[in-house]
Amino acid sequence: MMSNETPILEVSNLSTGYGRFDVVRDVQLRVGTGEAVALLGPNGAGKTTVLNAIMGLVKVRKGQIFISGKNMAGLPAHRIARGHAAIAPEGRRLFLDQSVEDNLILGALHLRRDQDRVRKLLDSVYELFPVLRKYRDRQSTYLSGGEQQMVAIGRMLMADPEILLLDEPSVALSPVAVEIVVKALMELRRRGASLLLVEQRIDVAVRVCSRLYVMTHGEIVDEMTPEQVNQGGMSILNKYLG
Ligand SMILES: Nc1ncnc2c1ncn2[C@@H]1O[C@H](COP(=O)(O)OP(=O)(O)OP(=O)(O)O)[C@@H](O)[C@H]1O
Ligand SMILES: [Mg+2]
Repeated sequence: MMSNETPILEVSNLSTGYGRFDVVRDVQLRVGTGEAVALLGPNGAGKTTVLNAIMGLVKVRKGQIFISGKNMAGLPAHRIARGHAAIAPEGRRLFLDQSVEDNLILGALHLRRDQDRVRKLLDSVYELFPVLRKYRDRQSTYLSGGEQQMVAIGRMLMADPEILLLDEPSVALSPVAVEIVVKALMELRRRGASLLLVEQRIDVAVRVCSRLYVMTHGEIVDEMTPEQVNQGGMSILNKYLG
């Protein structure tokens, strides 16, 4: 990406945490327009905390978070969720007693006065994941893990945000379901989406993303391209990821 162009997401000197301790320290990362970037790291590295800080769900203690040049740090979460950023969170967090379509529509709450747009977004989610159209009226608790992850991704897309954040979408999925998720993320890239993908699976990150950050103990410690990973970087990454 050209460095003088305003990125979709720019996180600079971000420090944050819980209680007395910062679990994220001086994090710098950027996602260019239409770029897919991975944030890799072992359990407890602080990946989810970074995503939650971007969403305004964890208070930023130091640093800035720019989305399309506007500083989000300090804004309430509902403002950030209104079209700036949306997340497919760790653990999916669906309303399991509600239907697939109701879960999807929840992602577009801020667009409810524009039902045409909500319809169009719903159609594009069903195009991406045809099985969800088939199960639209089914209670989400009866879906497989892979199908539930598709709903979580679909709900994120329903917000029609500037940047998509995904927190370990491949976790606990069957190989077939991982493949469906990877293909969907590639299709989103093709459609021009900008995304930040938190992953522990290097293979998934390498296939989807054009740049990979590595985070350990709350800090960004390395940055690689998929080419660098394939040309000897894998052993370095494996060491970081433990
Ligand atoms: N709500 C919380 N209160 C206190 N400590 C927390 C809280 N959430 C996370 N932590 C701690 O902050 C650190 C970073 O957690 P975080 O969830 O961001 O890591 P992660 O990289 O997403 O890990 P994983 O891959 O296991 O999801 C961990 O040491 C964790 O125990
Ligand atoms: Mg996490």
